[in-house]
Amino acid sequence: MCGIVGYTGHESAASVLLAGLRRLEYRGYDSTGIASLHDGRLHLRKLAGRVRRLEEALAESPIPGACGIGHTRWATHGPPSDINAHPHLGGEGEVAVVHNGVIENHDALRAELSADGFTFQSQTDTEVIAHLIARELRLLRDPQIPRADLLLNAVLRALPRLEGTYGLAILHRDSPGLIVAARQGSPLVVGVGEHEHLLASDATAIAPHTRQVVFLEDGEVVRLTPDSLQIAHVNRGPVTPRIDRIDWAPDAAELGPHDHYMQKEIREQPETLRNACRGRLRRDQATAVLGGLNLTPRQVRHIRRIVFAACGTSWHAALVGEYLIERLARLPVEVEYASEFRYRNPPLDDRTLVFVLSQSGETADTLGALHEAKRRGFPTRAIVNTVGSSIARAADGGIYLHAGPEIGVASTKAFSAQVAVLALLALYFGRIRGLPFVDGLAALEALEFAPEAMAQALQTEPLVRDAASRFQSTRSALFLGRDLLYPVALEGALKLKEISYIHAEGYPTAEMKHGPIALIDPETPTVFVAPRGPLHAKTLSNIAEVKARGGPILAVGTQGDAELQRLADVFLPVPDVPELIQPLVAVAPLQLLAYHVARLRGCDIDKPRNLAKSVTVE
Ligand code: F6R
Repeated sequence: MCGIVGYTGHESAASVLLAGLRRLEYRGYDSTGIASLHDGRLHLRKLAGRVRRLEEALAESPIPGACGIGHTRWATHGPPSDINAHPHLGGEGEVAVVHNGVIENHDALRAELSADGFTFQSQTDTEVIAHLIARELRLLRDPQIPRADLLLNAVLRALPRLEGTYGLAILHRDSPGLIVAARQGSPLVVGVGEHEHLLASDATAIAPHTRQVVFLEDGEVVRLTPDSLQIAHVNRGPVTPRIDRIDWAPDAAELGPHDHYMQKEIREQPETLRNACRGRLRRDQATAVLGGLNLTPRQVRHIRRIVFAACGTSWHAALVGEYLIERLARLPVEVEYASEFRYRNPPLDDRTLVFVLSQSGETADTLGALHEAKRRGFPTRAIVNTVGSSIARAADGGIYLHAGPEIGVASTKAFSAQVAVLALLALYFGRIRGLPFVDGLAALEALEFAPEAMAQALQTEPLVRDAASRFQSTRSALFLGRDLLYPVALEGALKLKEISYIHAEGYPTAEMKHGPIALIDPETPTVFVAPRGPLHAKTLSNIAEVKARGGPILAVGTQGDAELQRLADVFLPVPDVPELIQPLVAVAPLQLLAYHVARLRGCDIDKPRNLAKSVTVE
């Protein structure tokens, strides 16, 4: 979704901003623009389309200045167009604003400002903010206020008028070298460099410049010049900035030798699993160590129920978590769509622990679910990838995935890291709640082997590439799995539909005969996620039923499973591993399948149509 970058320092703002915007492209957007400030003038370039077009426009007609703001827009109010692209100017061009989020009372404000003589160019809610600040600047012609503080004061007076969410960055024609930014419900991070400051909605945009960052909180406003950084909370006054360090190398967000980010991230999974488990396994006690959870063993014993709330792929991971925790810790778990949990007012009791799961840590529905649980006074925990994200900071404790930045819109390595972390959680809870040492040790050893097992599962790639051609002109596919592999079937179906635009449905294998079997025909492939397990014989019967109806069968199964191989038209062998880590080895060929089918169909793999990496609107 929308992205913000800002720069004030000594380099060409346009080049720094363009580099930042390129690093934000993965989030999904439809238009882009930048504004720079030089010699008392605001210079603006903005257009519908890709950052590449903006780069060409800037090459033809460069803009000067070492202070500026930039934006990638994902349309909400008004279609993608040059006019609706950000930055927007306020007043008679004295203010430039970029904005992430949604202003809910923009209609009323637009009417009020129009009545005051302000003219609107665009259909966006953002232009309202620009005019509002320009109006405050005019009203503030107070000789007592130093010129350097004018913009900050005008912004502080304008913000209380806004209802909704925003991450904002603002320039003022008469305030050289100054960016004022504000956050309410939409993330912003400041980068601290040598005689320069950067600003972004996502740390990946500024990581090549600096790894020293300050995450802003809701209600904070920041004033940035090349040599100063001041933060104030709108109600509580000055705030001392806390500098954090980004814990991944900036080249973690580079494509390197890979063709797509999705491919890179699929291939990174052995390392992802290693990082998710690093330092968290305790062999002498056959358990996991999860310090950030902030739960004593006594508190864990007190829990009677766990509720997971998440969206999309994170919801699928949570479903694996349900099976794992119920099995190892004998604790009832419910998995809710965050968007449903938030509004349906489910009954919870004092012994319920609410967990939210999110790769980005910024998903609006998931953040909303977390706030709702907190509002009702329930203890909350989060499983998150992005360090310092809104969800990570709002929860009472949690577990980081340490998967590094995930750039491809279709989530892959975050899913496997979530599953690994949920297995750690199940082991930790299990060992407190009666899981015997030997069983704990078996789980721990399975997790230790997971990176190697994943590496072996990824070796199916050449077979998957061949299999992909069978799906190239398919219109619809079924994905079936049972027990721990049912969520993997759901995830395989989601991957295929989101990047190759082929309709796909996931079901528990045995559900097939209760309806989906009607879809089986020679044109509709069924993907069975069927590594060996206690119910394998039943799965083989289900496969035979599909075969009898002429349906093509692709099976992900245990290496050496001759029976499965005989039944399937395409057999993708994965290593023989304990059930606990079967979801990890089974998901790898499905991710690769989606990737290669999308590739054959010529789809835009890293930026699938209509999708955004981090869904920050409801
Ligand atoms: C699918 C995908 C989405 C996300 C969902 C939640 O590949 O990426 O379904 O999983 O939007 O995002 P996070 O995990 O960032 O909260």
